[in-house]
Amino acid sequence: MSRILVTGGAGYIGSHACKMLRAAGHEPIAFDNLRTGWKAAVKFGPLIEGDLLDRDTLAAAFKEAQPEAVMHFAALSNVGESVKDPELYWRNNVTGSLNLLSAMRDAGVGKIVFSSTAATYGEPDQDPITETAPQKPINPYGASKLAVEAMLDDFEAAHGLKSIAFRYFNVAGADPEAEIGEDHRPETHLVPLVLDAAAGDRENITIFGDDYATPDGTCIRDYVHVCDLIDAHILGLDHLMQGGGSLRLNLGTGHGFSVREVIDAVDEALQMKVPRKMGTRRGGDPARLVCDGSRAKAALGWAPKRSVMETMVTDAWRWRQTGRY
Ligand code: UFG
Repeated sequence: MSRILVTGGAGYIGSHACKMLRAAGHEPIAFDNLRTGWKAAVKFGPLIEGDLLDRDTLAAAFKEAQPEAVMHFAALSNVGESVKDPELYWRNNVTGSLNLLSAMRDAGVGKIVFSSTAATYGEPDQDPITETAPQKPINPYGASKLAVEAMLDDFEAAHGLKSIAFRYFNVAGADPEAEIGEDHRPETHLVPLVLDAAAGDRENITIFGDDYATPDGTCIRDYVHVCDLIDAHILGLDHLMQGGGSLRLNLGTGHGFSVREVIDAVDEALQMKVPRKMGTRRGGDPARLVCDGSRAKAALGWAPKRSVMETMVTDAWRWRQTGRY
């Protein structure tokens, strides 16, 4: 059992980490400024309310929590917003992470699992995408996450920090017990928006373009269930705790779903026809992003279990209908 400081522990992915860390016998301590996270999502351990930009609160949090390792989810993650306001992303995601690494060094905490993104690859010419693909982000969000990966490397060289950076593809689904789930306001992600349209909370789902070079013309993404994603984080934590070295790993299943296929899966799971309308392309969307996840499987023995589109949709729907904050 280890005490783990979970930054962003009140957010969508961080709250699932807290629940599953607790179930695995660890003690999660959430650190969150509650700007996009929810107090109601912190159910599996204490909450320290604070901001990564506030170095005093951060140092006090390390004193109070005495963690053995950190899981770092706290970040802004809206690509469109990052293009409009890059300063916000560089300050929050990069300076915030720098403050965190510096607080870890001062407190003598030498292990971190970091939430990176496939957005660090930009528009790759590999398919599926391996970890060795060049990292050339095309928006400030991806650039901010790539900067943190570089920071982790430098802190390892200088101070021996061990890190795992997981590059997420498209995270979806929710806790099967519907205690926690995805609740972004405003929401920009496909699966929760389709469910909003299914529930009648929005008129329809707009498909952002059907003129891509894909079989049905709509964009293809690799969707991974949030619980499978956290399984990998816990395996990664165990790896570091046992003295394993730093890793950079993609997290996705290797199966691509088009926007149309996602909407059809919701139709099928809910036995209805979700109202949809055709729209124009959203800027900066690559046609196809599919993961080669073999390195995570080989390095950690990771085996996704719930990353089946029907399961992701059903779990997200259960949460939406019973549990929202
Ligand atoms: N889409 C629609 N209509 C909508 C919303 C989305 O057609 O109303 C489409 C998008 O154009 C895209 C797909 O659905 O083709 C998935 O879009 P999301 O916004 O759900 O996810 P993204 O693939 O854009 O982004 C996700 C994460 C980002 C991360 C990126 C990395 O949300 O944080 O993957 O690839 F940067």
